[in-house]
Amino acid sequence: RLRQVPDDGPPVTLHQARDQAARCTRCDLCHAATQTVFGRGDPAAGLMIVGEAPGDHEDLQGRPFVGPAGQLLHRAMAEAGIDADRSWLTNAVKHFKFTPRGKRRLHQTPTAGEVRHCRWWLDLERQMLRPGLTVALGATAAHALTGNRDPLTPRRGRVETALDGGPVLITWHPSLILRQDGPTAETARAQLVADLSQAAQLLG
Ligand code: URA
Repeated sequence: RLRQVPDDGPPVTLHQARDQAARCTRCDLCHAATQTVFGRGDPAAGLMIVGEAPGDHEDLQGRPFVGPAGQLLHRAMAEAGIDADRSWLTNAVKHFKFTPRGKRRLHQTPTAGEVRHCRWWLDLERQMLRPGLTVALGATAAHALTGNRDPLTPRRGRVETALDGGPVLITWHPSLILRQDGPTAETARAQLVADLSQAAQLLG
């Protein structure tokens, strides 16, 4: 069920893409979410970091990775020597998906269909930016980028090939680390930093 697409022609610039994505109705997530959270950062960076979907904070602020998972990511990037201002941060799905629970909005993982609909934007973003390296944070991003839905554990820390042919380094999603505790969380966090350091090295 492909819904209405903004009908002012395919976007040519990143600015046009952001503008049209703000009015996207390709799937139902646009109805409950506050706004589209498009990618942000340095379009010339060479490094694209892809998460799952905006969370509560991102939905309200309109920027990717500004909530607790984003803070963890930014600290891990700094430890790995990656300048967040010299990378492009985005998500596989660009609207927040949630279930209302009292005053709270509980995050829900987007479906494969929602990922597929939103891949139109991710593909476009990638065609425009042509990143030298992409880091996939978690299973949803890894699936959106490579088409492979296999479990992440054996894939983490490895470089795979995106559907468009570019290299994709697979790592944990920072939200997963936030949900773990004790030594498990510490190990996963260290692996995230090690993977991001590998990304920095691959970029040269
Ligand atoms: N989690 C994501 O996957 N993306 C964000 O932008 C924030 C949290």
